[in-house]
Amino acid sequence: MPDVRQTDHNSRVIRLSDYRAPDFLIDSVELVFDLGEEDTRVTAHLAIRRNPEALDRPAGLRLEGEALRLLSVALDGESLGENRYRVSDDALIVDGVGEAFTLDVVTLIRPQDNTELSGLYKSGGNFCTQCEAEGFRRITYFLDRPDVMTRFTTTIRAEAKRYPVLLSNGNPVAGGEDPDGRHWARWVDPHPKPSYLFALVAGDLTAVRDEFITRSGRTVSLAIWVRRGDEDKCGHAMASLKNAMAWDERVFGLEYDLDVFNIVAVSDFNMGAMENKGLNIFNTKYVLAKPETATDADYQGIESVIGHEYFHNWTGDRVTCRDWFQLSLKEGLTVFRDQQFSADQGSPAVKRISDVRTLRARQFPEDFGPLAHPVRPESYIEINNFYTATVYEKGAEVVRMIHTLLGPDKFRKGMDLYFARHDNQAVTIEDFVSAMQDAGGVDLSRFKRWYSQAGTPEVTVSERYHPESRRYEMTFRQQTAPSPGQPVKDPFVLPIAIGLLSPEGREMPIRLDGEEAEGRPGTRVLTMTGMEQTFRFIDVAEPPTPSLFRGFSAPVKVKGVPLDRLKFLAAHDGDPFARWEAGQQAATRHLLDLVHAWRRGEALTADPDLLDASRRTLAGGDADPAFAALALGLPAESALADEMAVVDVEAIHAARQFLRGEIGRALGTELAATYERLTDKGSYRPTPAAIGARALRNASLSYLSATGTAEAKALLVAQAETAGNMTDTLAALGLLGDVEGPERAAVFQDFYERWQHDDLVIDKWFALQAVSSLPETLERCRSLLAHPAFDLRNPNRVRSLIGAFSQGNQLRFHEAGGAGYAFLAEQIIAIDPLNATMAARLTQPLGAWKRQDAARQSLMRLALERILAVAGLSKGTFEMASKSLQ
Ligand code: ARG
Ligand code: ZN
Repeated sequence: MPDVRQTDHNSRVIRLSDYRAPDFLIDSVELVFDLGEEDTRVTAHLAIRRNPEALDRPAGLRLEGEALRLLSVALDGESLGENRYRVSDDALIVDGVGEAFTLDVVTLIRPQDNTELSGLYKSGGNFCTQCEAEGFRRITYFLDRPDVMTRFTTTIRAEAKRYPVLLSNGNPVAGGEDPDGRHWARWVDPHPKPSYLFALVAGDLTAVRDEFITRSGRTVSLAIWVRRGDEDKCGHAMASLKNAMAWDERVFGLEYDLDVFNIVAVSDFNMGAMENKGLNIFNTKYVLAKPETATDADYQGIESVIGHEYFHNWTGDRVTCRDWFQLSLKEGLTVFRDQQFSADQGSPAVKRISDVRTLRARQFPEDFGPLAHPVRPESYIEINNFYTATVYEKGAEVVRMIHTLLGPDKFRKGMDLYFARHDNQAVTIEDFVSAMQDAGGVDLSRFKRWYSQAGTPEVTVSERYHPESRRYEMTFRQQTAPSPGQPVKDPFVLPIAIGLLSPEGREMPIRLDGEEAEGRPGTRVLTMTGMEQTFRFIDVAEPPTPSLFRGFSAPVKVKGVPLDRLKFLAAHDGDPFARWEAGQQAATRHLLDLVHAWRRGEALTADPDLLDASRRTLAGGDADPAFAALALGLPAESALADEMAVVDVEAIHAARQFLRGEIGRALGTELAATYERLTDKGSYRPTPAAIGARALRNASLSYLSATGTAEAKALLVAQAETAGNMTDTLAALGLLGDVEGPERAAVFQDFYERWQHDDLVIDKWFALQAVSSLPETLERCRSLLAHPAFDLRNPNRVRSLIGAFSQGNQLRFHEAGGAGYAFLAEQIIAIDPLNATMAARLTQPLGAWKRQDAARQSLMRLALERILAVAGLSKGTFEMASKSLQ
């Protein structure tokens, strides 16, 4: 039975179609923070006027506020009696205001009790903020919506000894000592901005400094603020920042626009990082790294998140979103920009493969499940639930398709036009697409369906070759399954990057019927606009093998490519992405055959072609070790689950383990030789070449360990204990986590003792235990909840234990009795009153019940119902759990 509160949540759905311009605007705000151990006093002086564009003229002003204690309100300098305003638990309403006026509002807040980590809170004894999406209203009453852009002046007062560093947005303009051991600093941000980009930090921090000289010759002071003792872990973040600044100038002509750029690392943070103007606040995970404590993946994560937040300065801060339905306007575009940046720093093909893997692992399931939503959603209860892979990663794919359709030069012109038209504005996705359309000279009206329709299109292809006329025809069909609220889909516009391969694997010239010019060999982009469309090629000398969706030119699933063709492409395709893809598809087919054989109780046999292909990949591995490591990898268990009508987690695990063992045995000599040859003799460097070599070496180790021999086990233990960098240590430890026997416990214990003072390393220690395939894993997770290093209030810890188990351990999470589901439900219920954003995010795996068997389906639904039965459930968790049941 839903209680009153929950009916209430349902009645407060926010809809895009209800958007109205704000009735009032706030031109400037002067904030004064008196930071205290008990109460923090916030004084806000607001200059407000009626919005000339507002449709109606209400008498009263309504400001949002949440968890605030109101002390006083003054209108045009005159203190207001309580009959002149009203306060509710989410607003302050002031009656009888004029055309333009000032408002002084004083509130009290308690940052030290703020476990939601939204608004002003404390982390590691320091004050910090997170205001996106709606956290500013937890600091003071405001028009807390992105289309209200305001000039901010911020004064911070605090005890000088405890909080020597006082930071906010913009540039520092003044400061001084107060008599009572307190001090103050004032910051002015010259750029108008929405309240979600406000930030404040006060604490005992130390700076690693550098500078950047912009293309036009201005010097920008850069600082990364961390806890004392972490200074030696900032080098990679700083180098990444400078690379990002130079890259945005070179590729997009975009320069930084303040004199200082500050980054602060905090260990309690709901997300990865936040692009507050001039004062980015980061999860320590995306700042701190040194070879002994951070893996190659961590180094790459830091580079891309530092880039991402920096790139937001233009795509997000200078041009922001009109409303939160437009979130992908800044996030999809900025993810696209950070992907391009990282690709340019290393191997574009390797980067593309890993981005596509992320999309498939995280976004495809969203599109298939009950939480499917378009890149631009149409309604929400809690906006924090829409910081999703669909809005971010699929949003980036949509921008990439525009880039593919326009080509890089016109795309750049489109970006220039977007900034020329909309600098300092809060705009819509529509505005972005219009700029691209106008600069590109193309019609993107049908293309825009990518923003409004949810779902992953499935594409099938049929073809005919006519030897007499040397003509070749391909007919593409697309189909997209219904999603919540969208029973029927219009066709998506698909850029199809294709190549035609001769029987020897050469690129054949491509010439469409009706074209004047001779065909040229190589990749060609076709544009599909209908549900079904035929392309006719002429001058085709031999029956070709088509290579489709090269570089993953559209986020679709291609179905029905014959297995022999996949094998041919895996060996010969000149496009590295397509070559990798064909190999993965072939391995998927084979693994699914093994799954079915296992279910029928038959003996399993490995496909000799797959073993040969792996042997060839390994033999040629030195040419591009990073690519070889990816090509040798088998599809994840979750990717195999995605291909089954009814998932069988045990069969998937068994089939995949069998094949890993077979590869390990068949290629034992070559794997051992590769492992030896790639042993890193020099010191650790996070260069693409060194990262690639470690990836291939650890891939070899993984297959060797899959044979289960005593020798292989010894190799794991040796690497876990003696490796000189965290990448190699963790690779061995992860494999050892799946191995029964006394070695595992001892190595994990040693690791804990060695690293117990490094939070980020201990996160890894929790996560590795949570993803172990061993039968006792759930029980171990339960006991880890009581470990002294575990803390339900710290999002990184929650993600590394509860998140890793429920999202990274399909085998144990979906255990037949439903104990994994019950575990997750209990944790969500415990976290919800502390941090509703985190609790809501954790709910996602329970929504993936559609492909489970009937017994698991009802157990998963039961877990969701248990969550919904909690009195006083947050609206965010309510939204996730109730929609997951649909
Ligand atoms: N804008 C941040 C980013 O670029 C994400 C912050 C979202 N925070 C939140 N509580 N929803 O990734
Ligand atoms: Zn972002």
